[in-house]
Amino acid sequence: MPFLAGYAILYHMEALNSLEQWDDFVEGRYDPNRKTEDFRKYDDSAPSGVRDFYQLNHTNQTRDFVLEKKRQYASRGRTEMGIWEALEYLNTLVDDSDPDTDLSQIEHCLQTAEAIRRDGHPRWMVLAGLMHDLGKVLCLYGEPQWAVVGDTFPVGCAWSNKIVFPEFFAQNPDAKVPEYQTRNGVYEEGCGLDKVDLSWGHDEYLYHVTKDYLPMEALYMIRYHSFYPWHREGQYQHLMNDQDRAMLPWVQKFNPYDLYSKSAARPKVSDVKPFYEELIQEYFPARIAW
Ligand SMILES: [Fe+2]
Repeated sequence: MPFLAGYAILYHMEALNSLEQWDDFVEGRYDPNRKTEDFRKYDDSAPSGVRDFYQLNHTNQTRDFVLEKKRQYASRGRTEMGIWEALEYLNTLVDDSDPDTDLSQIEHCLQTAEAIRRDGHPRWMVLAGLMHDLGKVLCLYGEPQWAVVGDTFPVGCAWSNKIVFPEFFAQNPDAKVPEYQTRNGVYEEGCGLDKVDLSWGHDEYLYHVTKDYLPMEALYMIRYHSFYPWHREGQYQHLMNDQDRAMLPWVQKFNPYDLYSKSAARPKVSDVKPFYEELIQEYFPARIAW
C-alpha cells in the first residue's frame, strides 16, 4: 500500500499560499513582452508552492475526474444565488497569506470590469469581466485549489508540450491509456471545443451556471479564459470548429483585462454598485441555480 498512501498525501497537499499566487504567476508568465522561448526560464524560477500546485493539478486532472466533476456540478443543483449575492459570497474567501494586497475578491472583480468599461467595450463584456472568476466559489464548496484554478487543457487526448510544466503529466494515470495519448484522442478532428472536456476548474463551472443568460462571446471569455495553451499558444487548432475560430479573438481581447487590471485604481464598491446591479438585471433574473 505504500504507493496509495503516497498518492493520498499528494492529493490532499495544498500547494499555493493563496489563490492569488497562481494569478500572479500567470500574469508574469504571459506578459506580452516575454517571448515564448523564455517561458521555461520563468517557470524554473517559480516559487516551490507554484510548482507543487501544478504537479497536483497535472497528476490529478484525469478524464475520469473531469467527467465526474461535470456530473456533480453541471446540473446546478447545489444552491440558488443572485449574481451580486455570489460576489459577496466569494468575498468571504480571504487570502490572508498574501501580504502584497488587501484587495477583497469583489474589488478584484470590479477592477477587471471597470477597466473594460473605461475602454468602451460592450456591456456584456463588462459583465463578463465582473463575473469571470465567480466560479472560484468552488473553493468555498471545499474543492482543492488544483480543481479550481490553473491553466486549463483538454483531457482524453495528447497533452501539448506547450502546457506549463508538461513533465508533471508523467504521473497522471491517463498517461497509461493509449487511447488518450493520440493527437485527437477520444475526439473527432474539428469537432469543436464544446465537445472537448477541459481540465476542471472555475472557468467550466461558471460556464454551466451562466450559459442560459449571456451572449456567446461572453460565454467563451468565461469558459476559456484560463485555456492559455489555446488562446495564447495556438495549440489544439485541430479540435476547433468555425464557431471557435470566430470566438477566439474575443477571448484574446478579454485576456489583458484578466491579467493586468489588478494594479488599476481601487474601486469604491458603493459608488459603482448601482451601475452593476442594473447591468446584472439586464441579463439575469434575481436568482439563478448554481
Ligand atoms: Fe480566472
